[in-house]
Amino acid sequence: MREQLEKIKEQIESFEIKQNEQVEAFRLKFLAKKGELNDLFEQFKSVPVEMKKELGAKLNQVKQKAQEKWENAQSQFEHTQLGNKKNEIDLSLPAEEDFIGSRHPLTLVENEVIEIFKKLGFVYSEGPEIEDDWHNFSALNFPANHPARDMQDTFFISEDIALRTHTSSVQVRLMEKQPVPIRAIMPGRVYRNEAISARANCFFHQIEGIYIDEKVSFADLKQTLYYFIQELFGQDVQVRFRPSYFPFTEPSAEMDISCLLCKGKGCNVCKYTGWLEILGCGMIDPNVLKASGIDPEKYSGFAFGMGIERIAMLKYGVKDLRTYFTNDIRFLEQFKSE
Ligand code: DAH
Repeated sequence: MREQLEKIKEQIESFEIKQNEQVEAFRLKFLAKKGELNDLFEQFKSVPVEMKKELGAKLNQVKQKAQEKWENAQSQFEHTQLGNKKNEIDLSLPAEEDFIGSRHPLTLVENEVIEIFKKLGFVYSEGPEIEDDWHNFSALNFPANHPARDMQDTFFISEDIALRTHTSSVQVRLMEKQPVPIRAIMPGRVYRNEAISARANCFFHQIEGIYIDEKVSFADLKQTLYYFIQELFGQDVQVRFRPSYFPFTEPSAEMDISCLLCKGKGCNVCKYTGWLEILGCGMIDPNVLKASGIDPEKYSGFAFGMGIERIAMLKYGVKDLRTYFTNDIRFLEQFKSE
């Protein structure tokens, strides 16, 4: 029995408990009712009296050792198990925030402009980004080989097909298919062969508007745009119209608004003029109406077009056009609440 006790003692010492299951295996092998130590206790009953003292003490020592090892292992695993559980779920932690995306600033501005014109009865329309010469140029009174075509550096796909350089092409498509009166707002992406910089990109976004009916006048144009600007930028904004040139409008104008930052006093945003250029507009040239099958003797109309990037730059203080297109989450996240 002495050797047996020595053997079990060694086994207890060398038993490796590295996983939770081994804790129970250890208990079954040594401490359970049918375990090895209990066997020895059974044998102990028949040990001669003179050896009982010595062997009994030893037996108890070994049992205690096993008991201690088992308890230690148990508490160790209980602890790490709890630790694991904590990683899985801890009900006392604050709830994780849901990730909510944000709308792109250009979408925000586009939607806002559309909403304002909707209130005036303008309907939404779209056209293709790959456009033919007729809709992008010829029907808009840019004659073939006319220098006005050089106003916009065009990406040509073939001799007759190009990426549209402006949303004015959608005007033509609408005039061709819709009966007059027409009142529409047409947003979209446009392309120009420009070197990319803080102020220019090879693609950008515009919003085009037209209103065609009997007796539409320049006064209607001015009042419509004045209302629009006040809705977009507030009541104190002033506007002014400067004569300009576009092949598809006659007369043509550009509209400026009083500088939003210095309120007209002069600052580096308005280059000390007090004014910011915001859009192009004019009365639709009779040649353009005619090209789309609308009688210029009976009908007249106005048109306007503006760059969305520019308006968003003014509204949100964006200084570099490229920020819109780099997909930088730190920039985009700032528009979360809008
Ligand atoms: N298409 C012009 C451009 O891209 C903008 C424009 C000017 C549109 C006058 C118009 C307009 O409808 O009447 O520069």
